Amino acid sequence: MCGIVGSVGETKLRDYLLHGLKSLEYRGYDSAGTAFLTKEKLEVFRLPGRIDDLNQLVPAKMHGAAGIGHTRWATHGEPNFVNSHPHCSQQGYFTIVHNGVIDNFRSLKKKLQNQGCKFQSETDTEVIANLMEMHYLKAATKNPLDAIKKTLEDLEGSYALAILFKKDDTKVYFAKLHSPLVIGKGKNTNYLASDYVPMLDYATSYYIIDDYQYGYISQKEVVVKHLDPNEEKPLVFHQTDLKVIDIGLNGYPHYMLKEIEESPEVIKRLMDNYVDGNQFVFDDVLIQKFQEADQIIFLACGTSYHAALVGRRYFESIGKTSRVYIASEFAYYPEVKGKHPLFIFISQSGETADLIRCVKIIQQQGSPILTITNTKGSSLDRASDFTLLLYAGMEIAVASTKAYIAQVALLAILRAALIGNTEIITDLIEVEKAMKGLIGAKLEIKAIAEAIAKEPNVFFLGRGLDYDVALEASLKLKEITYIHSEGLPGGELKHGPIALIKKDVPVIAFVSDQITAAAIRSNLQEVLARGAKVYVVSNQALAKEEDDFVTRNTKTYLSPLTKAMVGQYLSYYAALSLGRDIDKPRNLAKSVTVE
Ligand code: G6P
Repeated sequence: MCGIVGSVGETKLRDYLLHGLKSLEYRGYDSAGTAFLTKEKLEVFRLPGRIDDLNQLVPAKMHGAAGIGHTRWATHGEPNFVNSHPHCSQQGYFTIVHNGVIDNFRSLKKKLQNQGCKFQSETDTEVIANLMEMHYLKAATKNPLDAIKKTLEDLEGSYALAILFKKDDTKVYFAKLHSPLVIGKGKNTNYLASDYVPMLDYATSYYIIDDYQYGYISQKEVVVKHLDPNEEKPLVFHQTDLKVIDIGLNGYPHYMLKEIEESPEVIKRLMDNYVDGNQFVFDDVLIQKFQEADQIIFLACGTSYHAALVGRRYFESIGKTSRVYIASEFAYYPEVKGKHPLFIFISQSGETADLIRCVKIIQQQGSPILTITNTKGSSLDRASDFTLLLYAGMEIAVASTKAYIAQVALLAILRAALIGNTEIITDLIEVEKAMKGLIGAKLEIKAIAEAIAKEPNVFFLGRGLDYDVALEASLKLKEITYIHSEGLPGGELKHGPIALIKKDVPVIAFVSDQITAAAIRSNLQEVLARGAKVYVVSNQALAKEEDDFVTRNTKTYLSPLTKAMVGQYLSYYAALSLGRDIDKPRNLAKSVTVE
């Protein structure tokens, strides 16, 4: 995680670095820092805090010829001043910002310490800066790019680096391995950033740096080298259509609320992109791969994993053997039973390190990979054989909402395409209407949320698809309220968790399926008898008078779309009543680029 920026040229450096970092804050917000280099001096500003705090710290008139910046999600060392980036080498030759993790930093640090190097911080990043300095000082050539190359050869792990070299304010150096980094070309200025967004108002074309590439940008030049010179190839810069995407709050108090309420549009956009009249718009080769596959294996993390659980049920229901793995587990225990598996990676960001690790394993065995992502040009998009984009628009709140909706809806459309079922079109129009109804009735959910926010433990129950939603609702609640919560299959309660039920413990049940409605209601009797405070979220077809929230009817297989929205509102309003930092919850980051 962590976000990095860099720039050199005519643009107002302070503006670019600070605005850029603000838009990368979703990648971590434990500490922040910038460095400004001119011929005369190098000035570093850093602090444990947010970009808004950094903005106060950096003098308004601060200028530099070249600069770098960082927003941190702490991995090595607590988020205090000394561990904040940028980090300088001992004699000040190299100043760097880093996103990633250096696995062998301890042994490298030891070597440097044995040579007399003193460290200020606990970070792996400071080790990189000092290694660069060591290689630079040792070499007769005194060439910083050679020193950077030599350092990269020593490193094991992942890095996106932006580097200042104190004797040359005309360049920002960079390097990349397994952490994202993009170059933007502007008028008399070039830029670096962890993604496109910081550069949208500055650059006119972009280059996504590949693994093992390193080099520098200057005002007019972009030099990209490869650690293996045989791999060097001409650079192809491209445009991005991201400018048209709205990333403002538009009057909403939080991104999370805005993003929840974008759900109907997200459904519509997916239909516009994947359905044309009565025809589905999917690559024929991809459909053929589905037909050839003897099993579908989903890999995902967090909220995307919960979408994958729904996807598994979708594909099982049309006769495709399907399994779901948490990517970080599969990476170490990659069991594949069938001969012709098709892998589906689900990832909002397309940058999740646990998934990227799996790509390599799967590529070695030669199975096709389909990535379902919201992020065009992301590492997973580029590494996969096929990509289906979610078209959810940029998701800024750390807790994922509309991306989950898009993931589930796209999996439903894909299932329909595989069996040629065009009823999905009317089914999803019904969902859009139900979502709009839900938005209109959100204050009813707010009342439930305010009641549960007072309790230390909350349980979500469901069966079948409702269980998948219970898991997601529970994750959402934990993420942004810090209330302990569990999602359980209704039938499992009596096998253990019921021991935790006592007077006033909130139990929220989703009831969307005729097949399991009676069973889940009978589970609720068991907790009611033990004093729990039960809240039922049902739909019109299955509603009972005493239910607490009733959604409009949709086809049962699409019920996760509306029920998950109820869970999102519950978490949002509970967090609001607790005064939490809703869009930037404690300890989390949106794009998890470390293992
Ligand atoms: C982080 C985020 C979650 C997200 C998960 C997977 O933990 O905080 O909201 O669900 O990563 O991210 P991905 O981008 O792969 O969907």
